[in-house]
Amino acid sequence: MDLKSPVLTWTLRAGAVVALIGLVGLLVAASGVIPVKASSGHWAITEWLLRFAKRRSIDTQTLTQNAPRFEERWLVLKGAGHYEGGCRPCHGSPEREIPRIAAAMTPPPPPLAALVAQREPKELEYVVRHGIKFTGMPAWPAPERDDEVRAVVAFLLELPKLSPASYRALVHGDGSLETETPNTPRAVQSSCARCHGADGLGRGLGAFPKLAGQKRDYLVAALEAYALNRRHSGIMGPIAASLEPGTRRALAAYYAELPAGAPPGEADPSRVARGRTIALEGVPKRGIPSCIDCHGPGAERRNPLYPNLSGQYRDFLVLQLELFREGRRGGSPYAHIMRHFAGRLTPEQVRDVASYYASLPVEGAARER
Ligand code: HEC
Ligand code: HEC
Ligand code: HEC
Repeated sequence: MDLKSPVLTWTLRAGAVVALIGLVGLLVAASGVIPVKASSGHWAITEWLLRFAKRRSIDTQTLTQNAPRFEERWLVLKGAGHYEGGCRPCHGSPEREIPRIAAAMTPPPPPLAALVAQREPKELEYVVRHGIKFTGMPAWPAPERDDEVRAVVAFLLELPKLSPASYRALVHGDGSLETETPNTPRAVQSSCARCHGADGLGRGLGAFPKLAGQKRDYLVAALEAYALNRRHSGIMGPIAASLEPGTRRALAAYYAELPAGAPPGEADPSRVARGRTIALEGVPKRGIPSCIDCHGPGAERRNPLYPNLSGQYRDFLVLQLELFREGRRGGSPYAHIMRHFAGRLTPEQVRDVASYYASLPVEGAARER
């Protein structure tokens, strides 16, 4: 190598300058003069730099991502239920301004209604999924559940159109959910009713599962699985984890005792007929067992941890089967049973069998415990 080459000399000089800047930076940091206090906000230059880096990063990272699709009509309802508990405490809502404690963060969480118009849906999806480093914006707590992130984004896109009254109606329903009795556990109103209803019927669209009339032991096991993150959900996980085991049991007992109401029904009789065949006979040539031995209807002495499916919302059953199919659905220590064969059901068979169960009356099928 020619040690006198001008290229080498300049490279060495440039390297020395960079090393010197790095050293000075390190010394300044080590001296402790850089304030980390949130109370004074950022210097204008730091703020500009952080914003610039954030915009560039989100632009580049979402470049090849497809725009999310929002087909299911219940996505907005599901996202709204989560927003009230998971986002409103930092970002405020049409009903309430940003809470004082959150407003004291650096950077403060922005009000989202105005911001949504400046972002593409895929950018919102990226931010809700991954969060933003060096700010208080958290990542989605269940990385397995992109479908839940999509529900939140579907809601964000509606947010600019919502008045305080329409936000309230979306999040809490029309008030007919207030079927409270002196025996209703307090946590029902404070943490379950806005999504599952105090009546346990799940607000009618399939965004939230029906809990009324479900087996008590299954409900306890499901809550425990969410709490321990053995069943993954960024919506239910944090809620279940915040409940004492005794409260989980009380809530399960409360919902299990409620009348299960009419089945949601299914408009397509040929689907129901095909689904009935799968439920009763399985699909022997693909190694799929019949469902009724474990899930009913008609099975008398079933394991109390095998959930009733009769009268449950079709779309909820489809979602859970899809999660099993893709290995994303955990659950109780029995959940592995489902994973053995769920992957062999075709998407059409999943819809058929879910339609069959959604069409079944709950009484008779679901009351035995
Ligand atoms: C602990 C507080 C906190 C929670 C909870 C929170 N955020 Fe944020 N969020 C922030 C902060 C702080 C920022 C500002 C980041 C910045 O300025 O770069 C932010 C920024 C955002 C942005 C703007 C990103 C951009 O492009 O500039 C969106 C969108 C957002 N949050 C959505 C949500 C949603 C949806 C939820 C609920 C699922 C949520 N946030 C929950 C604190 C929070
Ligand atoms: C923000 C809306 C929301 C709130 C509040 C909420 N849930 Fe849920 N819950 C859901 C969603 C969505 C699911 C489906 C999650 C999944 O895909 O695993 C669910 C699932 C469940 C399940 C599993 C049902 C099944 O058939 O597998 C149980 C049990 C449950 N919730 C109980 C509760 C209880 C008890 C509370 C109150 C402490 C509560 N939930 C509060 C939205 C909510
Ligand atoms: C050998 C028993 C067994 C058989 C057979 C069986 N399942 Fe399951 N299934 C289970 C168990 C156990 C769970 C609960 C897993 C958990 O959450 O712990 C479950 C859960 C489910 C769920 C989720 C329900 C909810 O509320 O989250 C659906 C949907 C389901 N099964 C559909 C089916 C279908 C469709 C068939 C037939 C093709 C079938 N299962 C056959 C044992 C069985």
